[in-house]
Amino acid sequence: MLRLLLLFLSAAMLLPGAAGQFEEFANNTEVNISSCPITYFGQKYEQLYLNFTSNNFVLCFTGFYEPHGRGDCLVMPKTDNTYFLLGSLLDYRYVEQDIVQNLPSIKNTGECFVALVISGYTFLLVNFGSQTAFLNSDQSVFPDFLVDGNKVFPLNVTNQQAYADLSGCRSSGVLFRPGDVSSDPKTCRTLTCSQSAVLQNTSCGPTERCQGNGVCSSLGSVCTVTGPAVVDFQGQQNSVKDRCWYSLLRIPSGPDFQVLVHFQERRRKDVSFLDGVTLRLNGSAVHIQLKQGGRVLLNGSPLTLNGSVQTGHGVKLSKDQTGVTVQASLSNFSASVFFDGSTAQIHLKGSDGLPLQGLCGNASRSLSEERLSEDGSTSCEAQYTDATDITINCTKMAERCSLLKEASFSSCGVDPEPYMAACTDTLCRYPDLDGLSCRFLEAYARACSLQSSAAPEDWRSKAQCSPPGAVCQDRTCSDHEFCGEKTAGGETRCFCRAIFASKYRQTNSLGDPPVCRQSSTSLSLVGCLLEDKGIDYSVLQLKDPTCRGQMDQQTHMVTFSFNSTDLCGTEVTTNNSQTIYKNAIMTQNLSSGGITRQDQVYIGFSCVETQPDIQTVAFRVKDSSVVQFVSSGPWNYSLTMKAYTDANRTQAVASNTEVRLNQKIWVELDADGLDESLVAVVMDSCWATDQESANASRKYYLIENGCPNPEDQTVSVEAKGRGTSNSFSFNMFQFTGSSAQVYLHCKLQLCIKQENTCVKTCAGTRRRRSVRSQSGAAAFISMAWTA
Ligand SMILES: *[C@@H]1O[C@H](CO)[C@@H](O)[C@H](O)[C@H]1NC(C)=O
Ligand SMILES: *[C@@H]1O[C@H](CO)[C@@H](O)[C@H](O)[C@H]1NC(C)=O
Ligand SMILES: *[C@@H]1O[C@H](CO)[C@@H](O)[C@H](O)[C@H]1NC(C)=O
Ligand SMILES: *[C@@H]1O[C@H](CO)[C@@H](O)[C@H](O)[C@H]1NC(C)=O
Ligand SMILES: *[C@@H]1O[C@H](CO)[C@@H](O)[C@H](O)[C@H]1NC(C)=O
Ligand SMILES: *[C@@H]1O[C@H](CO)[C@@H](O)[C@H](O)[C@H]1NC(C)=O
Ligand SMILES: *[C@@H]1O[C@H](CO)[C@@H](O)[C@H](O)[C@H]1NC(C)=O
Ligand SMILES: *[C@@H]1O[C@H](CO)[C@@H](O)[C@H](O)[C@H]1NC(C)=O
Ligand SMILES: *[C@@H]1O[C@H](CO)[C@@H](O)[C@H](O)[C@H]1NC(C)=O
Ligand SMILES: *[C@@H]1O[C@H](CO)[C@@H](O)[C@H](O)[C@H]1NC(C)=O
Ligand SMILES: *[C@@H]1O[C@H](CO)[C@@H](O)[C@H](O)[C@H]1NC(C)=O
Ligand SMILES: *[C@@H]1O[C@H](CO)[C@@H](O)[C@H](O)[C@H]1NC(C)=O
Repeated sequence: MLRLLLLFLSAAMLLPGAAGQFEEFANNTEVNISSCPITYFGQKYEQLYLNFTSNNFVLCFTGFYEPHGRGDCLVMPKTDNTYFLLGSLLDYRYVEQDIVQNLPSIKNTGECFVALVISGYTFLLVNFGSQTAFLNSDQSVFPDFLVDGNKVFPLNVTNQQAYADLSGCRSSGVLFRPGDVSSDPKTCRTLTCSQSAVLQNTSCGPTERCQGNGVCSSLGSVCTVTGPAVVDFQGQQNSVKDRCWYSLLRIPSGPDFQVLVHFQERRRKDVSFLDGVTLRLNGSAVHIQLKQGGRVLLNGSPLTLNGSVQTGHGVKLSKDQTGVTVQASLSNFSASVFFDGSTAQIHLKGSDGLPLQGLCGNASRSLSEERLSEDGSTSCEAQYTDATDITINCTKMAERCSLLKEASFSSCGVDPEPYMAACTDTLCRYPDLDGLSCRFLEAYARACSLQSSAAPEDWRSKAQCSPPGAVCQDRTCSDHEFCGEKTAGGETRCFCRAIFASKYRQTNSLGDPPVCRQSSTSLSLVGCLLEDKGIDYSVLQLKDPTCRGQMDQQTHMVTFSFNSTDLCGTEVTTNNSQTIYKNAIMTQNLSSGGITRQDQVYIGFSCVETQPDIQTVAFRVKDSSVVQFVSSGPWNYSLTMKAYTDANRTQAVASNTEVRLNQKIWVELDADGLDESLVAVVMDSCWATDQESANASRKYYLIENGCPNPEDQTVSVEAKGRGTSNSFSFNMFQFTGSSAQVYLHCKLQLCIKQENTCVKTCAGTRRRRSVRSQSGAAAFISMAWTA
C-alpha cells in the first residue's frame, strides 16, 4: 500500500496541477496550510514553519524552530531537497482505507493531507477532522514528535513505524490521549478526551452544585413572595389581593413542614404586602413566627438572634443584616425559609416528585383554596379601592423591571419572566417607594444565587440599588404600622397602614374619642398620624404643663390622662343636666423670641355625664394649623336599686320574698363607675304606683324633692348626697282597693361636690325645696313587690 502511495506522490510531482502543486522549499519557509489544517495532538494549526538546521529538518506548527524552545514540532534528519503538497483525499480514498486499516484508533473520516517529499523519503500528515494520521515511506526514519518542546510518543504506531496516530486533546497546555479522563472532585469538573480526540468538558448542571467530593447535588427549587406577588416553584406568578393568612407550602405526603404567610396593606388600601411568615413543624409542636423588624418568636417567646446560628427543635435559625433564615432538615429533605420583612423565599431540596400544596406548590390550585379561614371572621378578604396614583409611570416601571433581562443577570439560570411580571404588575399599582423596585431585583438575584451555580454580580450599581442592609431590620412598628423610608434611601420610620389611617384621615382627627372613667380619663393620639403631620408628641401637654403624653412603646399610641388625684387642669362644670369635664391637648409654650417652630396644636376634649343619657360634645379647636374633630366621650356608670328586709341590708327582697304589711323595708341606691371625690348622687324623689308605669295616675310619694314625705312618719333617709350611695327605709303599705302589686320608682341626680349643692337640709321643715334641673333627665329605677 505504501508503495502505491509513493507512486501516487511521484506521479503527482511529475504532473503539476493534477492533484495539487508540489513546491520546492526555499531554505527556511513558512507555509500556509489553511486549506488543510492539521490537528497536532489536540491543537489545530493552519501554518507550518520549516527550518533546515545543521543536523535536522524541522517542521513546526507554532513558529520557526528554536532549539530548546517550547514548540510543537517534528524533528527529522537533515536532507537536501524538500517539496510539499497539499491535497484532497477525495480523489484518493484508497489512502484513507489503508490508514484506517492500519490505525484502528482513527475513528473519523479523512479529509485532506499535507505531503512532504524530502530527498530520500516522503511523509504525509492526514487530516481526519479532530484526529491526525502520520504516514511515513521510510520506516528507518521516524521523527521525534515534540509537544511544548517535550518529546511525546504517538498513540498508535504500527507497521514498523509506517503509520502513527497523532490524535490527542489539550487543555491548559496539558496533553490528553483519546480515552483519558481527568476530574477534579473539588469542582466536579471532568475533562474527557473522546476516542475521536474531542475534548469534553463536563461539570454540574445549571441547577446543580458540586459538593466537593465529585458529586453534584441538585440546587433545589425556589419560591419567592415579594409584596403581593408570588413566584412559585414552577415559575408561575400570582398576586394576593387581600389581607389574609395563606398556606405558602404544605407537603401532604411528605415531611411535617408547613409555611404560612400573612398579608397586610401599607401605603395603599388596595395593594397587600407580605407581612409575616409562620413555620409549623413536628405537628404543631414547633411554630416559628418571623415578623416585621427581624423579630422571631419560637413557640410564642421572642428569640434574640445574632450572626451565629442557633439550633433547636430540629431547625437552625440565623439572622444577618439582610434578614432572618430558618433551615429545617428532615431526612433527605431540606428547606430554608428566608424573610426580610417584605420578601420571603423558600428554598427546597429533596422534595422531587412529592406533591406540594400552598401558594408555592401547586399553580393549579386557586388562591382561595390556600386561604386560611380566620376564626370565623372574613374581614381580611374585604377589597378596598384607592384612587389611582397618577405619579406612577407604568412604562418607566416596566423598563426598570426589565433590567432583569439584562447582561448583569444573564448568568442566572432562573427564568426572569415571572419576576418581571410580578415587578411590573406591582409597580404599576403601587409607588416605587421604600426601595420596592430594588426588592424585586434583589429577590430575583437571590433566587439565582440559590438555584444556579452562577450568581449575578455587579447588578446593584447599574440598577442603583444599595446592598440589602439593616433597612427596617430591628425597627419595631406596631400592628397598625409598617416600616418605610422617610425619603428615598434615607431614614426609616413607622407609617400608618392605609386602612387603619383612613378612618382618622376622613375626619381629619388624630385619635379616638376620650375614654372617660373614674380611674383615669384619657385621650390617645395615634403616633404615626402625629408623625405624618410633623408633630413631635413630646412638646404636647394638657392644660397643666406637667401632664404630658406617654408613648406606648408597643402600640405607639400617645396617651394623655388625668384622674381625680391629678386633674391636670381639667375644668369641671355643670350645664343644665350635664356634668362636663374639659381639658385640652396643646403645644407647649416653647416659643422664644416670639417665634415657634412647632405647629400649634389645640385638641379640646371633654367627658360628659348626662342624666340619664350621655350626650356627645364636639371638640373645640382654637386657631391652629391642626384641625380636627374628635367626639367627646361618654362617662359610663351604672345605677342599681335594691330592697332589703334588714337594717344591715343582708336580706335582699327577691321576687319570691313575701313582704308583710307594715314590715320595714330598706332601699339602697348605688352608682358604680363615678368618681366619688368629684360627684355625688342625690335622691330627687321616690314614689310608688299600683301600675308598672312610673307615670301611673295613682302615685304615693315616699321622697319628694330630696326630702322624706312629711306625712309619712315611717320614711327615714339614712344617707344622702355624701357619696354615690343613698338609702332610706319605709314601712310596707298597700293601695286601697287595688291589687297586691306596688311599684317603687326613684329619680336620682348627679351633682358636683365642688359646687356644694349636694347635701339638702330637710330636717323638720315642710318647705319644698327646688332641686336643680328637674327636667325629667333623671335616672329611673323601678321595683315591684307583691305584698
Ligand atoms: C540554506 O541556507 C544555508 C545558508 O544560509 C545554505 O548553506 C544551504 O545550502 C541552504 N540550503 C538550501 C536547501 O537551500
Ligand atoms: C492563509 O491563507 C488563507 C487563504 O488563502 C488566508 O485567508 C489566511 O489569512 C492565510 N494565513 C496567513 C497566516 O497568512
Ligand atoms: C528558522 O528559520 C527562520 C526564518 O528563516 C530563521 O529566522 C530562524 O533562525 C531559523 N531557525 C533556526 C534554528 O535555524
Ligand atoms: C491502537 O489503538 C487501538 C484503539 O484505540 C488500541 O486498542 C491499541 O492498543 C493501540 N495500539 C497501540 C500500540 O497503542
Ligand atoms: C470548561 O468549560 C467552562 C465553561 O464552558 C470553562 O470556563 C472552563 O475553562 C473549561 N475548562 C477547561 C479545562 O477547558
Ligand atoms: C449570639 O447569641 C448566642 C446565644 O444567644 C451567644 O452565645 C453568642 O455569643 C452570640 N454571638 C455573638 C457574636 O454575639
Ligand atoms: C416533636 O414533637 C414531639 C412531641 O410532640 C417531641 O417529643 C419531639 O422531640 C419533637 N421533635 C423535635 C425535633 O422537636
Ligand atoms: C427521600 O427519602 C424517602 C424515604 O426516606 C424516599 O422515599 C425518597 O425517594 C427520598 N427522596 C429523594 C429525593 O432522595
Ligand atoms: C394540584 O392541585 C390540583 C387541584 O387541587 C390537584 O388536582 C393536583 O393533583 C395537584 N397537583 C399536585 C402535583 O399536587
Ligand atoms: C414615562 O416614562 C417613559 C420612559 O421613561 C418616558 O418616555 C415617558 O415620557 C414617561 N411618561 C410620562 C407621562 O412621564
Ligand atoms: C392619678 O394620676 C396620677 C398622675 O398621673 C397617678 O400618679 C395616680 O396613680 C393616679 N391615680 C389613680 C387612682 O389612678
Ligand atoms: C348588724 O351588723 C352589726 C355589725 O356587723 C352587728 O353587730 C349586728 O348584730 C347586726 N345586726 C343584725 C340585726 O343582724
